[in-house]
Amino acid sequence: MARRSQGIIITDKYQMRTWARSMRHNSIALVPTMGFLHDGHLSLIQEAHNHAQLVVVSIYVNPSQFAPSEDLSTYPSDFDADIRKLMTVPGGVDVIFHPHNLYDYGVESAMDCAGMANVSCLEESGSGHETWVRVERLEKGMCGRSRPVFFRGVATVVAKLFNIVDPDVALFGKKDYQQWRIIDRMVRDLDFPVKIVGFEIVRDADGLAMSSRNVRLSPIERQKALSINRSL
Ligand code: PAF
Repeated sequence: MARRSQGIIITDKYQMRTWARSMRHNSIALVPTMGFLHDGHLSLIQEAHNHAQLVVVSIYVNPSQFAPSEDLSTYPSDFDADIRKLMTVPGGVDVIFHPHNLYDYGVESAMDCAGMANVSCLEESGSGHETWVRVERLEKGMCGRSRPVFFRGVATVVAKLFNIVDPDVALFGKKDYQQWRIIDRMVRDLDFPVKIVGFEIVRDADGLAMSSRNVRLSPIERQKALSINRSL
């Protein structure tokens, strides 16, 4: 557990649970992220202070929501820059949860994925994880059509984070509208004692919704992406 001038960094899921249990007399807000933070994340974190006494931000690029053909290995990340940005949020954060052992269950043999349809990078890595949360109807349309393992991976990792951090409230950006609705439904259907707050989209000056992957857009792609906002 490393201590910084604002908040502590916890990298071990068991230490995270111990911290959360020791704080049970306070309310806890969780903001799950995959890092490479932008102003959209920072406003979500600032908003979290309106909902709870303590704010935990998780930074974890989750292999179970990426198919092997997707961009797990090149997903943008800059942990030190994230820490600096978190220090600019009024009120700061209490914990940055940056786990190294989220899917580490001890000795496991690699899973034989041959012939299995729709596996994620996690299964390919042989972690031995095989339990999934699926929000069956909502995960099928829109993004789910082209990314068959995505929402299964998101719902599962968020369920794990809820079990470890035990938050009273968790905040999600409405930019990822389907994700927000799926998490909300999971919480209702599985009786997680967590209030889900959806937060408004934060846009750049040209109207593009802020997203970590925007750094990859060429000027022409960015212009094309703006048509989404215009058509809305
Ligand atoms: O929206 C994201 O950044 C991710 O899908 C989430 C919710 C942190 C789960 O990995």
